[in-house]
Amino acid sequence: MDVIKNTFPITTNITSAGKLEIGGCDIESLAQKHQTPFYIYDTHHIEQVCDEYVNEFNNIYDNTQVVYGSKAFANKSIFKIISEKGLGVDVVSGGELTLAVLSGIPPDKIYFHGNNKTPTELELAQEAKLTKIVVDGFYELELLNSLSKKNGIVQDIMIRLSPAIELDERTHEYTTTGILDSKFGFAIDNGDAEKAINLISEYGNLNLIGIHFHLGSPLFSTKPYELGIRKVAQFISDFNNFDLQEFSPGGGFAVPYTREDSPPKVKDYASVICNTMNDVISEFNLPKPKLVIEPGRAITGPAGVAIYTVGAIKNIENVRKFISVDGGMGDNIRPALYGAKYEAIVVNRLWDERPKEKVTIVGKYCESGDILIKDIELPEIKSGDLIAIPVSGAYSTSMASNYNMNPRPEIVSLKDGMDQIIRKRETFADLFKMDV
Ligand SMILES: Cc1ncc(COP(=O)(O)O)c(C=O)c1O
Repeated sequence: MDVIKNTFPITTNITSAGKLEIGGCDIESLAQKHQTPFYIYDTHHIEQVCDEYVNEFNNIYDNTQVVYGSKAFANKSIFKIISEKGLGVDVVSGGELTLAVLSGIPPDKIYFHGNNKTPTELELAQEAKLTKIVVDGFYELELLNSLSKKNGIVQDIMIRLSPAIELDERTHEYTTTGILDSKFGFAIDNGDAEKAINLISEYGNLNLIGIHFHLGSPLFSTKPYELGIRKVAQFISDFNNFDLQEFSPGGGFAVPYTREDSPPKVKDYASVICNTMNDVISEFNLPKPKLVIEPGRAITGPAGVAIYTVGAIKNIENVRKFISVDGGMGDNIRPALYGAKYEAIVVNRLWDERPKEKVTIVGKYCESGDILIKDIELPEIKSGDLIAIPVSGAYSTSMASNYNMNPRPEIVSLKDGMDQIIRKRETFADLFKMDV
């Protein structure tokens, strides 16, 4: 089955009895035990992908640090896995930062991004002795310089640049970040980036140690990385007022969400990024910096699968058949937010060879836009069937909400036939415990 091969985690297996197994666990039995909706993570898959990124990049550029873009899914157990694999963590809020610190990620491997870090978050970053605060704009530069002065330190920083690299239509405008018309970073083309670098060397309490840019995500082509690295490298080669120790072309490595998607392989991204780095270092006579890459969705996306139970079915003859599941936009906003596409399988009908019918899978939330998958061909579905949506491990539960006062789902990791809850399901009481 293409969809299993292309989109499900690597330990996925269909048994001779036609049962779906992931991480050595039978998914139908898990659904009985944990109750739907819930998300599973194949931790073996996560480990494999971490190793692949570390090895493929270091094979060509031997000073590469892989950093997990934790906005994809920040969780204590996941942080433990990626940390054991030697990865750092990219955080974008005081919450993610606190979790990274509590999870034992070394401060010099925590990269603090964000276009509007608050004074409290910057204080927190300094208390945690971060050396990779990635400054995003002039307001933050001034704030951080004053804070560093007050705390009597010289703060190591990186800055985020915006190199104006346009992306093709496969990257949604909401996730395109390296263009002039973006809230992120100092633009090169309008002179802001130059101004920022000169300002830092005039300020007394900031020490620029590296340059970062992130073009957008996902990037189904390797070309933008090459263009971005070239443009940024050429730009910084004009400056001699800082010591380039780190260079980061960000994340955005694509994953196959559907059976048709065929994004570049890790080794393709590694080849283009590392070889371009080597080229520009000699071409522009740069010192060899540490290369920092920030895969987020690539680490946790394909390892995660959402499991739902079908409830109401509404068939409007010659119009549409709606299949309602017990989750939806509250646990996965991506289809509603930017038209993200997914596959689905009916877990308990893998054996079903009857002709398929076209259905639309919707959630239980009070919005007509609460559509998980529009027009997918599946075997005839009945209420009570189990639906699995693969590649749900990134930007799903991390963007989850309690809309309509629905509890957020349980999250379970699977490995070697063992299942372990890594985030409990919220209770109704949790939903209003902060109300007064
Ligand atoms: C600065 C930065 N790095 C890394 C990432 C991770 O992107 P992805 O999950 O597509 O790899 C993002 C995503 O928004 C980002 O903003």
